[in-house]
Amino acid sequence: MGRIADDKIEEIRDRSDIVEVVSSYLPLKRSGSNHQGLCPFHQEKSPSFNVNSARQIFHCFGCGVGGNVFSFLMRMEGLSFPDAVRQLGEKVGIEVEEEAVSPTEVLRREERERLLRINEVAGAFYHQVLLEDDSGVSGRRYLRQRGYEGETVRAFQLGFAPEDRGVLEKHLAEKKFSSDAVGKSGLVRPGKQGRSHYELFRNRLLFPIHDLQGRIVAFGGRVLDDSLPKYINSPETVVYHKGQTLYGLYQARDAIRHNGEALVVEGYFDVLALHRAGFSAAVATCGTALTADHARLLKRYADKVLLIFDEDAAGRKATFRAMDALLPVGLAVNVVAMPAGEDPDSLLKAEGEVGFRSCLDAARPVLEVFIEDQLRINDQSVEGRARSAEQILERIRRLPGDLERSLYLQRLADLTSLDLGLLKSKVSGGSIAQPRMRRSAEQSPPLRRLSTETGQTQKYLLRLMLMDDQQRHRVREEGTGGLFVDELFRGLADYLLGCEDEDGRLPDVLVDASLDESQQSLLASLVFLESQGWADNPEKIFTDCRRAASNYLLKQRLKEVGRLEEEAQRNNDEAALMQFLRERMEINQELKKKL
Ligand code: CTP
Ligand code: MN
Repeated sequence: MGRIADDKIEEIRDRSDIVEVVSSYLPLKRSGSNHQGLCPFHQEKSPSFNVNSARQIFHCFGCGVGGNVFSFLMRMEGLSFPDAVRQLGEKVGIEVEEEAVSPTEVLRREERERLLRINEVAGAFYHQVLLEDDSGVSGRRYLRQRGYEGETVRAFQLGFAPEDRGVLEKHLAEKKFSSDAVGKSGLVRPGKQGRSHYELFRNRLLFPIHDLQGRIVAFGGRVLDDSLPKYINSPETVVYHKGQTLYGLYQARDAIRHNGEALVVEGYFDVLALHRAGFSAAVATCGTALTADHARLLKRYADKVLLIFDEDAAGRKATFRAMDALLPVGLAVNVVAMPAGEDPDSLLKAEGEVGFRSCLDAARPVLEVFIEDQLRINDQSVEGRARSAEQILERIRRLPGDLERSLYLQRLADLTSLDLGLLKSKVSGGSIAQPRMRRSAEQSPPLRRLSTETGQTQKYLLRLMLMDDQQRHRVREEGTGGLFVDELFRGLADYLLGCEDEDGRLPDVLVDASLDESQQSLLASLVFLESQGWADNPEKIFTDCRRAASNYLLKQRLKEVGRLEEEAQRNNDEAALMQFLRERMEINQELKKKL
């Protein structure tokens, strides 16, 4: 993979101005040394979105996101980092040629471009057939029967593949695409044993599937009658991975971002129907289960996902699979129940916007539905209830917020009459389990962990490091390990130390691409942190941080000692037992002293 050279990235960042870039998306007003506006990443009425021109950083006090000009573009436009760099580069007139692009990489890119071109030409062809060609009559009639016209058809670029053989092939050949390239798109396939080629889609209504830049990466095609298969989809290609693509996201993105809510449905037609009825935040998976990649994609635009799947066994299974993908990335997930046998398309038809709205209003948290479901499918025997509880605990563990975790634990305890203390210990004991640990730094919004006093103090210390060279040097001498309990904070402290130049000073512009999203957000929030007096007493901040860190270590050791004690007891090792008991007493005294 060709990487963009670091100095190129810096050059582009230096040449551009974050205030100017942000201003092209939303109005900003100057306020002191900052600029303020309404946050584009969540809905708000009074401005908590801040841009600091000196540090070239943005931060929203409302939703906690922040970063530099590249992270802004990535979020705003749904771009990857290299694409954000490239796009900004174009604007400021710096061309991004990349380091060492291998010949195979060049070929791969050419192939991607070619496939996208072929899809584009094919999409335009099918669209035109549906809109006005004689061969599109039956497609037009079908769509009209289902009540779709003009606007929706255009917004989704719907198309129709005519019955006649060879029309697309001929059209693509006229546009000078080689049959080899066309074959790779999957749109025309080689016939078996010397027979002529055949087109994937014939006599089908076509749904182009777009990427986030609005380019067609694949198609889904529906028959016009009851024959089977009802749908055919393009095969996966270098430009199409169904596990990473959501149908309709390109059209729904702004609506999703506006309310922070996405509707996830099962079918192409459901997306159309919802869009037409004004629920334009709807997307569908392309005939697959919802993946972790889908979840991350949604998380870019939404805080909350409403799942609307069929009310049958398969739909329920899909709902809970989706839950397992969505909860770990920190999305709130609700389930919208449809009357049996209906999907959003048919429900809207039968009961209109009002009927659908009332289903939406009755949406329930997915975990609640899951708990009920587990208790229903497992019997009431001791084993049955234990099995349910294990399944449910597994999910509670993945919730990113501890308040939420505690509420659900209480609920579970009530429903199973299992001891709340036991359930709690199972959740925290097991939370070393991979998913939560691995993701915690990336997911829990930094603002949330800052609500604790320890979090505040650490944040103050980081802020001191940012504005006071001397204090920062002191942190270096003491070592970040003895001052910062929290990984996220310690990581950022280490990062700041690493940013110092030879004279031990920090550069003005700090946030760079090596920081992950939550680190960027935290760093940006520090820049905007008002002093309110605490900065006058660095001594206290150091002392508090040191104490928090050492308390934390002592408590860790206390847990360890508890385990060792039990072990010694099992082995009847009197001497060891005495030693651990003594250590426990000492630690407890130490902890008390520090209060
Ligand atoms: N699907 C598919 N291949 C099939 C059947 C279904 O890929 N053979 C996917 C399609 O994405 C489809 C979704 O599953 O949109 C839901 O299927 P279904 O409920 O059968 O169709 P609807 O979308 O409801 O279409 P319609 O309303 O036209 O019956
Ligand atoms: Mn349907």
